[in-house]
Amino acid sequence: MADIKTIICETVAEYVASKGASLSADEVADFLETPADSKLGDLALPCFRLSKLLRGNPAMISAELAERFNAVDGIEKIAPTGPYLNFFFAGDKYISDLEGLLSDEYPNLTKMGENKTIVLDFSSPNIAKRFHLGHLGTTVIGNAVRNIYKFCGYKTVALNYLGDWGTQNGKQIVAFKKWSSKEQLEKEGIKELERIYVMFGKEAEKDPSLNDQARAAFRELENGNKEYLEIWQLFKDISLREYTQTYKRLGIDFDVWDGESLYTDKMPAIVDELREKELLKIDDGASIVDLSEYNMPPALILKRDGSTLYPTRDIAAANYRYNTYNFDICAYVTSAGQSLHFAQWFKVTELMGKEWAKDLVHIPYGTMSFGGEKLASRTGNIILLNDVFDEAVAKALAIIDEKKAGEDNKDIAEAVGLGAVIFGALSNSRIKDTNFTWESALSFEGNTGPYVQYTYARAASVLRRGNMEGDWKSYTPVGEETELIRKLCEFENVVERAANDYEPSHISRFALGVCTLYNQFYHNCRILGSDGETEQFRLALTSATRNILGRCLDLLGMRRTEEI
Ligand code: ARG
Repeated sequence: MADIKTIICETVAEYVASKGASLSADEVADFLETPADSKLGDLALPCFRLSKLLRGNPAMISAELAERFNAVDGIEKIAPTGPYLNFFFAGDKYISDLEGLLSDEYPNLTKMGENKTIVLDFSSPNIAKRFHLGHLGTTVIGNAVRNIYKFCGYKTVALNYLGDWGTQNGKQIVAFKKWSSKEQLEKEGIKELERIYVMFGKEAEKDPSLNDQARAAFRELENGNKEYLEIWQLFKDISLREYTQTYKRLGIDFDVWDGESLYTDKMPAIVDELREKELLKIDDGASIVDLSEYNMPPALILKRDGSTLYPTRDIAAANYRYNTYNFDICAYVTSAGQSLHFAQWFKVTELMGKEWAKDLVHIPYGTMSFGGEKLASRTGNIILLNDVFDEAVAKALAIIDEKKAGEDNKDIAEAVGLGAVIFGALSNSRIKDTNFTWESALSFEGNTGPYVQYTYARAASVLRRGNMEGDWKSYTPVGEETELIRKLCEFENVVERAANDYEPSHISRFALGVCTLYNQFYHNCRILGSDGETEQFRLALTSATRNILGRCLDLLGMRRTEEI
């Protein structure tokens, strides 16, 4: 693919240059399209941009350009169609495309991130609370974005910015001292921490002085009170114990676990710098950065009592990350509810003149709900992530047991159940709200994770039964076969877009498209047992499909299922 495409782009660029204007081959590549219907050709060049640039009629430009492609190897036909120029590739072009797809290496992608580093802050739960549905998005989107960037050759730093420093920790300490004990905590785990936190909320409604005690406890913590630090460390250990289990189950690991608390001693320097640069204003005793000029409410830096806030810590942390990792991109995956917070403190770093301010990226996502129920975290009535996973796995097991009675299907069910939830969270554009229902997440036929895993397993099973030893390179692919090759060839491009847009759904949608075409091909074209070269070609095509679908599953953070 790459070669003919490059020739096309360069030829167009030369044509533009011959007319006294300028457009690079890369820019041409950006507006080349793959027609949805292969009858319209294998690639299409819309000539509108050229028409603007050269001040000419797009249809005439397309006709004139066509002449330049008459004798290009690999292009069988060239059809100017109104403002479009459509390219039809020669049949053996598909054969060389398929050879490329079998190599399972993507040097263009790997080059993209050469010598570049991306820091990805994701998942980052607030300690002492179990994972709930609200954590699903940041965890799986963050992990997928990380996989995608890694695949694009970036050095990735997956960072879990544990929420382990804030007034809520003061509340937990007060509650712990009043209503719990170390033994109880060891026995019950995070559940116990949640119980006392909810209790604190209820009691504080009756007795507001508890809130003052909590603030005082947090201040003590900031000042290094030994007893409090010990209790706090216990909360953290217990929380981490549970979090790591969930991450392990999902196959997610982090490179760095620098929580909010790490930045306590790094904030004073930031506050000083803000003051020196005359960015701080005192407002009702609190220190703020006025952002009214940018149509945003002020960023809160210090509370009236001098304690620091969420934005203060984020600024100090970003500064530290830049000094530590020298990042090219530092991205944060959180719900869209935090968009203003990020816009505000990003602006503050820009006003501070930080050269890396332009490299900060917020990756927001919509809410996730289950069967129409939103989650209500404050009331203690929450949908726990582990419950969602367990239920998905149990349902997957029931479905698979029906297909494969009498076998031990537990491991596959675990992969498929988790896959269903992960894919469900990654199949919409991330900013859209997602509503899960079991039927739509778990069906083996709809636009679901199990459908992708099932198709992957189908291809894997064909390959296990076939014998790929013969030649296929003089076969001429037709119909469904060329459709599938064309689709598979989009892979590199899709991954690149997914990286640039921080949008895993480009990959999940692409995977679904591949599945549809592969299943059509599978039903309409006999693979095993067709005549020698045809069989060999179809096995090769199956192998390329398995490669690409497997990559998609890897990138999305789902397990490959060799058989279902
Ligand atoms: N702990 C926060 C929360 O649960 C998310 C942290 C996101 N990362 C950041 N650097 N602010 O809402």
